[in-house]
Amino acid sequence: MSRFYSRNTRELVPYVPGEQPKDKKFIKLNTNENPYPPSPLVMERIRNFNLEDLRLYPNSEGAVVKQAVAKYYGISKDEVFVGNGSDEVLAFIFKAFFDDTEKIGFPDITYSFYPVYSALFNVPYIRVPVRSDFSIDISQYPEDLKGIIFANPNAPTGLYIATYKIEELLKNRPNTLVIVDEAYIDFGGESCAGLISRYDNLIVVQTLSKSRSLAGLRVGFAMGCKELMDGLVRVKDSFNSYPLDRIAQIAAEAALIDTEYFNETRQRIIKTRQWTQEKLLSLGVKTTDSKANFLFVKIPGISGPEALSFLRQEGILVRNFNSPGICDWLRITIGIQEEMEELVEKIKKIIAG
Ligand SMILES: Cc1ncc(COP(=O)(O)O)c(C=O)c1O
Repeated sequence: MSRFYSRNTRELVPYVPGEQPKDKKFIKLNTNENPYPPSPLVMERIRNFNLEDLRLYPNSEGAVVKQAVAKYYGISKDEVFVGNGSDEVLAFIFKAFFDDTEKIGFPDITYSFYPVYSALFNVPYIRVPVRSDFSIDISQYPEDLKGIIFANPNAPTGLYIATYKIEELLKNRPNTLVIVDEAYIDFGGESCAGLISRYDNLIVVQTLSKSRSLAGLRVGFAMGCKELMDGLVRVKDSFNSYPLDRIAQIAAEAALIDTEYFNETRQRIIKTRQWTQEKLLSLGVKTTDSKANFLFVKIPGISGPEALSFLRQEGILVRNFNSPGICDWLRITIGIQEEMEELVEKIKKIIAG
C-alpha cells in the first residue's frame, strides 16, 4: 500500500473476479460465461469493420445499441442507457442516485459487487437475510430505504422472483428506487422491462456478457424512465463520456438484432442445465431451482473448498464463495453438454469417496 492512497482506497475490499487461467486447459465453469461463440452476425460485423475509423471517437451515447435495445423491448431509446459492461452501469447508478445520506438494502446473499460499490461511493447499506431456502422475501425490506438492489435471477443461487411480486414492491415503495439486475434473465425468467413505463422508481440492468456470449466485449445497459436515464448520462459525462468503443457498438447492435441465434443458444443452455440438474439430483446432490446459466449445488460429504480443489485437480474450474451460509455450495456455470457430462462423472467420483 502506498502512503498516497486516500482513506477510501485504503479501506476498499475490492470484488474478486473468477480465475481466467492461461497455463492449463480447463473446463471453465467458474465465471458464468456462455459456452457458445457470439452470433455469426457479430463476428461478420467485426471482420468488416473499417479499422481506419478507430482514429475517430465513437458515438458518445452508443446510439445504435440504445436503438437496438429499445426495439427489442418495445420502449423508447430515451428509456435506455448503455455502458461498458453492466458493472459500469451499476457503478453509474450508485453514483447517480445514492450517497452517504440515506441507506440502501440488498440481500445478504447476492452479487458481491453491491457492497463493493456501496463502499466505493460511501453509501450506507443493510443486508437483508434471505430465507433458509435462499429465496428473497422482498416484502421484508424496511420502508425507509432510498434504494433496493437485487439480481433476478439472483446470484449465486439462481433463484427467480416473479414480475408480479416486483410490481407489488414498486407500488408499495414509490419513494424507493428499485434496481433489478437482470444479468441472467434470458435463461428462464421474464424481464421487468415492461414495467418501466409505469414505474418511475424502477431501473432494470442487463448485460450482453451472458446470454449474448459477449463477456469480452464489455457491453451492458439500463432501462428506466427518461429522467432516471438522464441522471446516468450526467454521471457518464462527468466521468468517461465515450464508454463504448466503435467496435463494441456495431458488434453489440448485431448481437441484439440476431434474435434467432440468441434464442437457439439460450434454449440449448436451458436444456443442458435441466439435464445436469436431473443427473445431480439423482446422485443426491442438492441444487436450487436455478433459472440462470449456472447451478448452485451442494455435494454431500465434502466441504465447498475441498470440492472446488478436487474438481480443479481434475481439470474443471467452478466457483465457491467464502460467505456464511453458502461456503459449502458451488456455483457451476452451464457449459456445453459434453463438459457437463464430464462434470457429472467427476462429481460421481467425489461421492464415491
Ligand atoms: C448479477 C450480476 N450482475 C452484473 C454482472 C456484471 O456483468 P458485466 O459487467 O459483464 O456486464 C455479473 C457478472 O458476473 C453478475 O453476475
